[in-house]
Amino acid sequence: MSIEISDWKISNCFKNNKSNFNKKKILNILTEKEIDEAYKVISKWKNYSQTPLLQLNKLSKKLNVNRIFYKDESKRFHLKSFKALGGAYAVEKVTKGNKEIIVSTATAGNHGRSVAWGTQKLGLDCKIFVSEYVSENRVQVMKNFGADVIRVKGNYENSLKECVKQSKKNNWQIVQDVAWENYVDVPKLTMAGYSVMMKEISEQMNNQKISHIFLQAGVGGMAAGMIAGMARYLDYNPIIIVVEPESAACVLESIKVGKIKKIQIEKESILGGMSCNEVSLIPWQILKNSLNYCVTVKDDKISKTVKYLANSEFCDEKIVGGECSTPGIISIIGLCNNEHDKKEIKLNKNSNVLIIGCEGDADENLYHELLNKKD
Ligand SMILES: Cc1ncc(COP(=O)(O)O)c(C=O)c1O
Repeated sequence: MSIEISDWKISNCFKNNKSNFNKKKILNILTEKEIDEAYKVISKWKNYSQTPLLQLNKLSKKLNVNRIFYKDESKRFHLKSFKALGGAYAVEKVTKGNKEIIVSTATAGNHGRSVAWGTQKLGLDCKIFVSEYVSENRVQVMKNFGADVIRVKGNYENSLKECVKQSKKNNWQIVQDVAWENYVDVPKLTMAGYSVMMKEISEQMNNQKISHIFLQAGVGGMAAGMIAGMARYLDYNPIIIVVEPESAACVLESIKVGKIKKIQIEKESILGGMSCNEVSLIPWQILKNSLNYCVTVKDDKISKTVKYLANSEFCDEKIVGGECSTPGIISIIGLCNNEHDKKEIKLNKNSNVLIIGCEGDADENLYHELLNKKD
């Protein structure tokens, strides 16, 4: 089968005029010590191994770029997502061996799974708040890790509000991946956990240099954790592109006005974990000066991308890539299809592009729905 991608487009490509990658400034926000500690702890966990860094050789040939690397987080600790590195690590650091602590969090799915897994490993109780949009399948996985899951009417924000309210009342320890005023230490731990991916990538690249890195963003924690990892582990600066759903471009809108801007989400994207209305405080401090471009994508090519990954159309291997693994691929295809954007962003035959395959079939029902969709 030959793939048809010539009509793929991005929605927006916005240049950050304030971009000025400053290692020292970044490592003042998330320190080398915090980054190194995360690797030290996580690399000692049972069954730890680097996730694969694959090459999408068929896609790079088609787009006429040198290499496209794909970090396959579907293989992360059988949790099927990079989020395994964040929540579980924060649980361990925050509870410090105290078995009396009850942990709580709000989640779109994968963060809660990580927190539940982390608490189960340590024998702690765990309360997880989810919105009405979180699938029953994702809820079941968290329950299987021993968590109490509490459904809240409305969206993610409502679930977070309820989590904060109940946690205050019951003296539960919130382990959240989002920072707000006076709540920054725990989300920083999750970011430090995510930076482990960059440590692995820096070793897996074998002295080849990344020219462009595409980072998906919800509240920006993963993107900022990876950028801190770049500051720590790389001695050069790739072009950094953040990708968001068109319907939830809170990073792009904030970059446009130079400060955190809360946006209105009219329609929830299929990219559930990325459908966020406000960038988190600590990530923002890193993102605002280090991003080169913000790109947004529609949902319409997600199912095709999932299928092409599964059917080894992008490389020789079959890849299980869930919905949130698709935006980087959709972006590079969309950018390459537009000569102006391609030139602007300096994508050419010498480019070595890194894409993060954030999750596998973390939501199995949705994954199969996307895989079987006729389009
Ligand atoms: C499954 C999933 N959830 C959430 C996110 C967003 O992470 P963050 O909210 O830290 O930006 C991503 C990737 O961007 C993801 O793949």
